[in-house]
Order: sequence, then C-alpha cells, then structure tokens
Amino acid sequence: MKSPMEALVDELVLACRNGQEGSRIVKALEQYARTQRDWERFLQFEPSSYTRNLVARNEWFELLVLCWSAGQESPVHDHAGQDCFMGILQGRMEETHFAFPEPGSSGALLETRSRIFEQGGVAYIHDSIALHRVRPVGGPAVSLHLYARPIDVCNLYEIQTSQVVSRQMLYHSARGLAGTGSR
Ligand code: SIN
Repeated sequence: MKSPMEALVDELVLACRNGQEGSRIVKALEQYARTQRDWERFLQFEPSSYTRNLVARNEWFELLVLCWSAGQESPVHDHAGQDCFMGILQGRMEETHFAFPEPGSSGALLETRSRIFEQGGVAYIHDSIALHRVRPVGGPAVSLHLYARPIDVCNLYEIQTSQVVSRQMLYHSARGLAGTGSR
C-alpha cells in the first residue's frame, strides 16, 4: 500500500504533467499538510542553516521538506521563472514579498507584503508576483515546497543594495521515497 507521501507525489504528477493545475496542487498540499505525518522521516535540523530535504524529483517538479530552526531564514530570492508552492507541515511561517526599487531611489529592495501561514496553509509565488523571503515565527517549523519545474539555480538579493548573486540550490539530504516501494 502507498504511503500518504507517495500518494501525494502521484497526485502532484497528475496535477502537473498536462499543464499545471494550480488549484489542484494547492488542494493536495493542504490536505496532506492537515492530515499526514509521514514527512517526519525527512526531518533534519542543522544549527548553521535551514535544511532542504528532497522527497521527489521528476521532469515536472521537485518536492522538498524544509526544516527551520528558530531564527533561521531564507535569503530574499527569486524562483528562476518557476512556480513555488509552500505548505506548512508544522509551526508557522512568515512570507515577505519584495519588489525592485524605483529607478533613482536608494537602491534598497521594497518590502511590499508580509503574511503568516499556519499549519495546513499553502503559499504560492512566481517571479511575476514578487521576490520573497521565508522564515519561521514563534519557534521551529517544517514546510513542504513544490517547485514546478525543479530549480537548480536562482538569484539571491541583498535587501539594502538589491545586489544579486546567483546560487546553486543544494539538498541537505536526498533520501527521497527510496525504501517505501515508490517509483
Ligand atoms: C528554498 O527553497 O531554499 C527557499 C524557500 C522558498 O523558496 O520558498
């Protein structure tokens, strides 16, 4: 029998492979985040940074469990033109949007919106909406990220200057669904 995470991956493949069905993806992530716990086997916290733990990767998407200790945060970044869905598995996450500065202004990125997502909530972003930064609030948190398509390189931005550097996105673990009978 398939595990809940394997069933989620199957549903996400169906929602992504013939053109992306955004509302179906959100529904699947919400339902999984509200009712399942088998993501616990992907947990890995590190004192130096949040961790990115690969669950599944195919031509349409990559699915990762991200583990955040209190005080950790992502840099402000873009998504290389891809869609990013973030479901909250445990704890609460703050997502802050940033826009590029007006020409002739100080050069700092503009903070345009900040929202808190509770366990079971799902955030969505694309480069056409904003850059963003995500971080846990009120303690550690665990989130489930779907990038469609997979993102291997993205841009990181310095808030005060808008300076950009390109970063190769790495995994802290890539155990995936091996050993569960999935493929
Ligand atoms: C990351 O994947 O490392 C950052 C989180 C995000 O883009 O939502």
